[in-house]
Amino acid sequence: MALPSDADLRSLPKVELHVHVEGSISAATALSLARRYRVDPRELGLVEGRYPDRFDNLAHFIRVYLAVSRLIRTPDDLAMIFAAFARQQVSQGVLYTEATFTAMAHVRNGMEPVALWAAVRDGLADIDSGTEIRLIIDAQRDLGSDDARDNVRLVENADAPIVGLGLSGPEGEEKDREFVVLRQAADRLHLGLAVHAGEEGPPAQVRAALDDLGADRIAHGVAAAKAPDLIERLKRDAVPLDMCLSSNVRIGIFPSLEAHPFADLWRAGLNVNVSSDDPPFLSTTLIDELRHAARLASLSRADLADLQRRAALAAFAPADTRGRLVAAIDAWTDRHRSCDGEASPSQV
Ligand code: ADE
Ligand code: ZN
Repeated sequence: MALPSDADLRSLPKVELHVHVEGSISAATALSLARRYRVDPRELGLVEGRYPDRFDNLAHFIRVYLAVSRLIRTPDDLAMIFAAFARQQVSQGVLYTEATFTAMAHVRNGMEPVALWAAVRDGLADIDSGTEIRLIIDAQRDLGSDDARDNVRLVENADAPIVGLGLSGPEGEEKDREFVVLRQAADRLHLGLAVHAGEEGPPAQVRAALDDLGADRIAHGVAAAKAPDLIERLKRDAVPLDMCLSSNVRIGIFPSLEAHPFADLWRAGLNVNVSSDDPPFLSTTLIDELRHAARLASLSRADLADLQRRAALAAFAPADTRGRLVAAIDAWTDRHRSCDGEASPSQV
């Protein structure tokens, strides 16, 4: 079977559920902000003006990520970052994005919340109407439940297209039940909850995200590959898992793409979608990630469309948006049906 071509990957209507706004700052933009604010680029962890090819571990990645995030000092900087983010999504042919944004970090860095949300709206207003960007506002696990509470207050008073709350950062000592305020707020505000779990941490972290927080989506969850009972549960409940292949390799979770369990999880019938996480930091793009996924799991065009359908159905967007996305993906599939004879693996 021929793998989908680059033209297929470009024209496929895409839905991306797991990509960080701050993780989309290019090295060139980071360097230009560093020059403006007289920060030594070596303090950012850049190597010869580039992000490292490999990070030692998640903690190393997060250090670089936070150092670059701290270069956003003014609302104009933030509007510029959001406009660049939107252009990145348009260039990848993404119809609908749920972008994770660590808004509270910028408030802690001195930005006033009303100005922050105005900058977000200004940046997003720049984009062409063919793409839609919605936000997931994430708390950081290592900052504990106070940060989670501050996040909830920030979101309650925000004027921005927010569809979800998130929990990110290192999977350390903090127990998920400390963050139950996020679940309560998500229910009260009619938002989804996406939890980073089972990335560097063990399968128990995924169970905790489900049991203690009722996570609506799991970011990564690759640790499940080590636990057959968890695989069964994730399959039974069709729990959406955001897979970010290059991220897991460049952050050192797996030694190579070939060692990544994406193909096993797909063949096991789990509700996986594919995302880019922090594309320039990880030297990737969404199209690259879909190409890797197609190669590793021998995906046909129909399978790729099925991955996008799973993402559309797992989105926190209202039902009419999800329906419109599925219709666009179906129309693409219909246009290519004559070329695709093979059946798709398990449908979710
Ligand atoms: N924040 C940005 N990218 C992240 C990742 N891959 N894991 C945890 N927190 C993050
Ligand atoms: Zn992430």
